[in-house]
Amino acid sequence: MTSYTIALIEGDGIGPEISSTSLAVLEALRTRFDLRFEFRPSPAGDACKARTGEALPQSSLSTIKDSDACLKAPVGDTAAETIVKLRQMLNLYANIRPSKSLPNVPSLRPGIDFVIVRENTECLYRGMEFEFDGGVVALRTITRVASARIAKHAFELAEQRDGARKVVAVHKSNVLRKSDGLFSQVCREVSSQHPSIAFSEMLVDSAAMNLIRIPESFDVMVTTNMYGDILSDEAAQLVGGLGMAPSANIGERFAIFEPVHGAAPDIAGRAAANPLAMILTSAMMLEWLSKTRGDASCAEAASSIRTAVNRTLESGVKTSDLGGSNSTSEVGAAVARQLG
Ligand code: IPM
Ligand code: MN
Repeated sequence: MTSYTIALIEGDGIGPEISSTSLAVLEALRTRFDLRFEFRPSPAGDACKARTGEALPQSSLSTIKDSDACLKAPVGDTAAETIVKLRQMLNLYANIRPSKSLPNVPSLRPGIDFVIVRENTECLYRGMEFEFDGGVVALRTITRVASARIAKHAFELAEQRDGARKVVAVHKSNVLRKSDGLFSQVCREVSSQHPSIAFSEMLVDSAAMNLIRIPESFDVMVTTNMYGDILSDEAAQLVGGLGMAPSANIGERFAIFEPVHGAAPDIAGRAAANPLAMILTSAMMLEWLSKTRGDASCAEAASSIRTAVNRTLESGVKTSDLGGSNSTSEVGAAVARQLG
């Protein structure tokens, strides 16, 4: 039996509900795939700050660093002190955000299947805001190193996908001539090392429109941090909304897996939250473990979760955001049952 240690950030709002539901699905893999997970609580976020004075205690950071992977539910107002900090401290430079039409889910069009590869360590997210007399200035950093490694990640991902094998770099180099000019230039340079992948560029405003106009035409989109944040919410809405959107924050040594959505305090404690974003996030975690550890059973387990999610949706079991009437744990239980 293979065993993995998983640091768990339960988060705030709907975080604890979707965490326990996702854990139940992962536990159900134990017998079928001979996979065991040891979940290690890593408190972080609003409730943690209220209790301990810190949104990201050193002990949680140590647990995350000492574990095989980290699974994270959303946190509330302290996101900048927790996840944004973690992405930068652990150098989780690639934020991978797939959008895929799934059965029986309201989708803008059939056949949507693309991935946003969002740079995750720089841009406006460095928190460099300064007041001056009469206003505030926010600094945006774009470096050659960070642009090159995210572009490389995007091309390598495109090479592994069965899809259309194309990468589009999204930026605003017609206005941000130096910063987005550099990002665009570096993406073009990296593209020359990947001749089997078709490469194009798109201005971010045009990309926002084309995601609505022709979403099925995208395969891999690579972009800077803030554009990636905004476009990934739009991308989620194309395929059923934020309740269906998983993501991975990946670096050389560490990785944190989290749904794209927030803590949704308005529906917290009502068993109404859609757990599928976090369940699909768990599948991404297993795929990463499989790739980095060479463990085929993790890949099989991930694929079994994906099949179980599809069967659950086909059977009509879903939460109200998707037009269904089931609770968070009912959806989780249906997915666990469908694992076989
Ligand atoms: C996301 C979130 C975060 C971000 C927030 C909560 C800081 O919106 O993961 O997309 O902006 O990156
Ligand atoms: Mn966001």
